[in-house]
Amino acid sequence: MLITNIKGLVGVHPKEKLSLRGQELADLPVLEDAWILLEDGLIKDFGTMDSIPAQISTLPSQISAKGRYVFPSWCDSHTHIVFAAPREEEFALKIAGKSYEEIAAAGGGILNSARKLQDASEDDLFESASARLRDMIKKGTGAVEIKSGYGLSVASELKMLRVIQRLKQTFPIPIKATLLAAHAYPQAYKNDHTGYIRLITEELLPAVAKENLANYMDVFCEQGFFSISETDELLSAGAQYGLKPKIHANQLSVSGGVQIGVQHHAVSVDHLEETDGSVLACLSSSDTIATLLPSCSFYLGIPFANARGLVNANAIVALASDYNPGSTPSGNMNFVVSLGCIKLKLQPQEAINACTLNGAAAMEMSHELGSIAIGKRANLFITRPMPSLAFLPYSFGQSQVETVILNGEVYHG
Ligand code: NIG
Ligand code: FE
Repeated sequence: MLITNIKGLVGVHPKEKLSLRGQELADLPVLEDAWILLEDGLIKDFGTMDSIPAQISTLPSQISAKGRYVFPSWCDSHTHIVFAAPREEEFALKIAGKSYEEIAAAGGGILNSARKLQDASEDDLFESASARLRDMIKKGTGAVEIKSGYGLSVASELKMLRVIQRLKQTFPIPIKATLLAAHAYPQAYKNDHTGYIRLITEELLPAVAKENLANYMDVFCEQGFFSISETDELLSAGAQYGLKPKIHANQLSVSGGVQIGVQHHAVSVDHLEETDGSVLACLSSSDTIATLLPSCSFYLGIPFANARGLVNANAIVALASDYNPGSTPSGNMNFVVSLGCIKLKLQPQEAINACTLNGAAAMEMSHELGSIAIGKRANLFITRPMPSLAFLPYSFGQSQVETVILNGEVYHG
């Protein structure tokens, strides 16, 4: 497939550029008046229209993208899209002033989702997650990470991970699976933390490893959830099974989760709505990616992460959706880019890089995704006609994505 007359081919980073740190985040190379050739699911070549080779310009399968931009697909590195039911009953409580912690303490929150998931069949979970994923893909997402964490028992966590595995086998986009059994203490283990940790380390982890069901291990390291020492123990156990950490840190308090994640060489530490100087210092010299989730702050009404501080401290910043039924009932990465600009004060170029190349890096896939380079996987989208690049985040709440291309072919969903 050949796409011609592209107003701007976005994110033509050198192929060896695998993540963007600090000031580099502002560097978003755009090739104007461009063409791109896709072959065998990969990006075969690209260039400017004035120098398009004659043998290419006559190829039969062509799309003219006049007035339109071509982007690498969004890489959404943090989601919880396998769940049994939405939780809009909590929506009204939140509006009336109840906090996320208060709702959780009253039996809502994660435990509410876990109760509903126990009874859901694998087929039903697969169907509902598929519908969410199709919707995300239509809005430009071309790679995704999905977590367990609403099972909270050996059987139900495995059920969730098997659903994620089925999604991997069914959908034409790369998917990474994360074991998040340490999302909350189930009711039965409320006063027996050691017992639940033992269940995870002695029963669940071996079973997950045996079926090769997870790429990463996550822990909700937070007051009222998992402490630093519990997180430490869980991440050490995960490492024995080859699971690298990607953890929930500093969402509701300065929890120490960032430091323990970095100590364990986490691929990413996610949320960071609460940061202090030591968090910035810790991430400034680390390869652990700071993944910020602005649509979670938007929905819960909690502070937005200090993105500028992190960029200025030379950290690697990515953005992701956090799509889940409790804190972020949306997987629209176009809105994440807008919030990245409007609320995190990232420039459009920075927010776009954070949702593409750095998002891919947060799933260890930036060698094959997240930018436009020869040999990378041809997961792209063509926008509607747009006056400029900044129009995409500027037109918040809308999707400028017109045509989705996955593995070099138009996706019809
Ligand atoms: O990333 N904070 C932990 N986990 C999710 C929310 C889970 C839920 O409320 O169901 C998050 O925000
Ligand atoms: Fe999350």
